[in-house]
Amino acid sequence: PRLRAEPKGRPWAALFIGRKTLMFKVPPLSAKRLAVLLCAMPKAELHIHIEGSLEPELIFALAQRNDVRLPYASVEALRSAYAFDNLQSFLDIYYAGASVLLHEQDFYDMARAYLARAAFDNVVHAEIFFDPQTHTARGVAIETVINGLHRACEDARSVHGISASLILCFLRHLSEADAFATLEQALPLQDKFIGVGLDSSEMGHPPEKFAQVFERCRALGLHLVAHAGEEGPPEYIWSALDVLKVERIDHGVQAVKDAALMQRLAKERIPLTVCPLSNQKLCVFPDLKNHNLRQLLDAGLCATVNSDDPAYFGGYINDNFTQVFAATGMTPRHAYQLASNSFEASFASEADKRQWQHRLKESFERFVEHDG
Ligand code: ADE
Ligand code: ZN
Repeated sequence: PRLRAEPKGRPWAALFIGRKTLMFKVPPLSAKRLAVLLCAMPKAELHIHIEGSLEPELIFALAQRNDVRLPYASVEALRSAYAFDNLQSFLDIYYAGASVLLHEQDFYDMARAYLARAAFDNVVHAEIFFDPQTHTARGVAIETVINGLHRACEDARSVHGISASLILCFLRHLSEADAFATLEQALPLQDKFIGVGLDSSEMGHPPEKFAQVFERCRALGLHLVAHAGEEGPPEYIWSALDVLKVERIDHGVQAVKDAALMQRLAKERIPLTVCPLSNQKLCVFPDLKNHNLRQLLDAGLCATVNSDDPAYFGGYINDNFTQVFAATGMTPRHAYQLASNSFEASFASEADKRQWQHRLKESFERFVEHDG
């Protein structure tokens, strides 16, 4: 579904589902009511690093359980280290935090805590990134990682009614040979993840460094995504699309610097998984009010809102929604578009997508009735 630009002065949302046009009135909402709507609407989360959901309290609990020494004296000392200048300054702390994960139960507990929190934010579907190399480099078997995360995803369906799947990310600061070795280790467990991604330090590690391993993953029928244009230039988004042949771009906010790229992203409806609080905390934008999410949406791109590393960036998905809306003055029409985009952009079945789009429409209609 796509929304047409609002006619001036008439707060109609025109919603196209197939050939049908559905119209309903979205009354002007107070900031408070808009925040309630943003939290209540069903949504998918497509950009969450599970290691970035480790709250300081859980890091300390796991450190104690596993007898791992941390270079921080307390939960408060760790949390106060969460002040970042850029992506790399965050990654250094993020990899240190992940060092407490040793056993299958640790990975299970981490994912279970995230999925409970996501369900609370009315996330109905999550596609979760994990970084196996961060763990295999410490001697943790890849089966330990994948089995723990996958079991939590399975249990979340029965406990919270949320669907969840896994995307294996290659660390781009390591070599392509290392990515190939990781893929080989993971392949016996291929039924437990749906795709691969590319994350970690972007500058100096362009997508084309991983051309061959992505080609192999494509041949294996895996879904493909990559971080591009978070700090890096629009050229990295072009090569993620044309060399790696990814289906979604993670972040992608630097696309606004390239008009031809913006046109392509809009025309092909290539999703961007945008993470407003992450961009603010890593100084990609000087302030949330300078964030370009509204510009991306108004240019017709399939942008979505996500939390990236919620334990480190001060908020889960609903915090991202409410804070970026408050800062940029987006409207209920943008809210509908973002939730709808999250389902459109997901790798779920067409039947699931239709059902979630229907639930979204119902949630807006119910909200508008109560408001009227
Ligand atoms: N790994 C975890 N969060 C990341 C981000 N925002 N960019 C790149 N790699 C990451
Ligand atoms: Zn990310």
